[in-house]
Amino acid sequence: MTKASILLTGAGGQVGHEVNRLAAARGCALTALTRQQLDIGDSEAVEQIVSRFRPSLIINGAAYTAVDRAEQEVEAAMRANRQGPANLAASCHARQIPLIHLSTDYVFDGNKTGPYGEEDPVAPTGVYGRSKWEGEEEVRARLRRHLIIRVSWVFGPHGNNFVGTMLRLAAERDELRVVADQHGCPTCATHIAAALLTLAARISKGVDIAWGTYHFCGMPATTWHGFAETIISEACKIGLLDQAIPVLPIATSDYPTPARRPRNSVLDCRRILETFALKSPSWQEGLTTMLQGVTK
Ligand SMILES: NC(=O)c1ccc[n+]([C@@H]2O[C@H](COP(=O)([O-])OP(=O)(O)OC[C@H]3O[C@@H](n4cnc5c(N)ncnc54)[C@H](OP(=O)(O)O)[C@@H]3O)[C@@H](O)[C@H]2O)c1
Repeated sequence: MTKASILLTGAGGQVGHEVNRLAAARGCALTALTRQQLDIGDSEAVEQIVSRFRPSLIINGAAYTAVDRAEQEVEAAMRANRQGPANLAASCHARQIPLIHLSTDYVFDGNKTGPYGEEDPVAPTGVYGRSKWEGEEEVRARLRRHLIIRVSWVFGPHGNNFVGTMLRLAAERDELRVVADQHGCPTCATHIAAALLTLAARISKGVDIAWGTYHFCGMPATTWHGFAETIISEACKIGLLDQAIPVLPIATSDYPTPARRPRNSVLDCRRILETFALKSPSWQEGLTTMLQGVTK
């Protein structure tokens, strides 16, 4: 890959921000575009940008990620999550550029016992999951040289996420009530960014790699309640909170939301480990590092 060769979309998001930051720290040449600079749902804009920057790889960090709002804003979700990747894949195909695209654990319905493998049948339970699945299919149909990386429960130092919400609520309330019957794997955006740049470096060597779909998430699996308990106790240790408040487990039925979420969306990450030696990172380590950054 020549210098200035990676084009990153969705640079203002949790993952996009971390990809941009890590690339700069590693001296990796990357052009980062926020939604304001490139709307991936606009095919002409995508074409213009790709012909202007002539990247040798695109990483798509852009997505519509408001899971509940998507139930109402179907068109907006489909534009970003289905049409966007379709536009990127078409432009990549025209110039023989590979694409790394991100997807989600919410393509699954959660009825399986045990972790989901890449080949397990999908059955999204809401508009967001369906739009992401359709986006995956658009990429597969248009471009052989793609990597689709499904991640889950993303949190990071930049942007809105569960960690920020728990810290805010803990400062306002006497107790937290958090869903304890949805199982999944929190994943730190910094760890995702590092994995994406490792994959980009592998692609840049020019040899044909095992293109396709991979799962990548933090370990160990937990519930939103387990995640919240760890957030509160870590925040206390670091001095972000004066005292630990009780975190009470509740059922999904006690916290109705517009979008139905899978009860189990734990991802089996053996394929990415065996193929690219990318090990599932500890989300607890990612959390601690993130919270330490908040105190600075
Ligand atoms: N967040 C999670 O928990 C989670 C879980 C599983 C998978 N994922 C997947 O992981 C990837 C990264 O997620 P994330 O957490 O970094 O999301 P995020 O923080 O919501 O960032 C997504 C970025 O994409 C931008 N965007 C939205 N529509 C766009 C468009 N049409 N053109 C260009 N940019 C657009 C957003 O801009 P605005 O902010 O201005 O809208 C935002 O900056 C996504 O593919 C997502 O589906 C996320």
